[in-house]
Amino acid sequence: MRSLIAGNWKMNLSRAEVRALLESLRAASSSWDAVDVAVYPPFVYLAEAAEILSGSAIELGAQDLYWKPSGAFTGAISGPMLRDVGCQRVLVGHSERRHVFGEQDEETEQKIQAAFANGLKPTLCVGETIGERENGQTEQVVERQLQSGLEGCTAEQAKRGLSIAYEPVWAIGTGHTAKPSQVGEVHAMIRAWLTDRLGAEVASETPIQYGGSVKASNVDQLMAVADVDGALVGGASLEAESFQRIVEFQSV
Ligand code: 13P
Repeated sequence: MRSLIAGNWKMNLSRAEVRALLESLRAASSSWDAVDVAVYPPFVYLAEAAEILSGSAIELGAQDLYWKPSGAFTGAISGPMLRDVGCQRVLVGHSERRHVFGEQDEETEQKIQAAFANGLKPTLCVGETIGERENGQTEQVVERQLQSGLEGCTAEQAKRGLSIAYEPVWAIGTGHTAKPSQVGEVHAMIRAWLTDRLGAEVASETPIQYGGSVKASNVDQLMAVADVDGALVGGASLEAESFQRIVEFQSV
């Protein structure tokens, strides 16, 4: 399977910085033949990002979506709107949506379905808090998040671009990357869950990304772990050179 390296820009960067970063990534991307690359800018920059990235192999995604197509939902952005501005992908259930904005498991299911209904490739983000890990609940929490988010997901839908991102909450933005052994254990569990739920063929084609303090200096080590098929990068994706190094798996 091809690796999927993605940059989640979260709530960062000015319009001018977004333009400059996209221009640099676009220029570098002509040599990124062996990897799938995606970026997730803030909503307000998506339309312009689509124009800059048009014709390049870099895919564009949104950081969230609401499941209704339109209506009186102040502040929300729908799947048809994301398609309309040129998105191909969307993140669902990111840890900050869950923990800062109180998103519930049931909502992730509706969002995954809305993504598929609108031809968007969803990445379901899962991961335990430090308290849950210390209580030995990692597997239980990740399984619950998979079960809820993918409740109605069929094998046929999954083939249209589902990916999973394992992002331990305690590793996000903290500089504390999970150890390869910890990453390997959870990724193997996710692969087994996918195999059980969607069949071996779909499971083997569904990228499982790791996220949480991925940088150019640790990407080699993390990508060498079995069942790690890519990375979802936060902070280190905000700067062209560091993201480029991650895409090219070069250590500093
Ligand atoms: P950091 O790489 O900044 O830890 O963020 C990870 C993340 O949440 C990506 O979605």
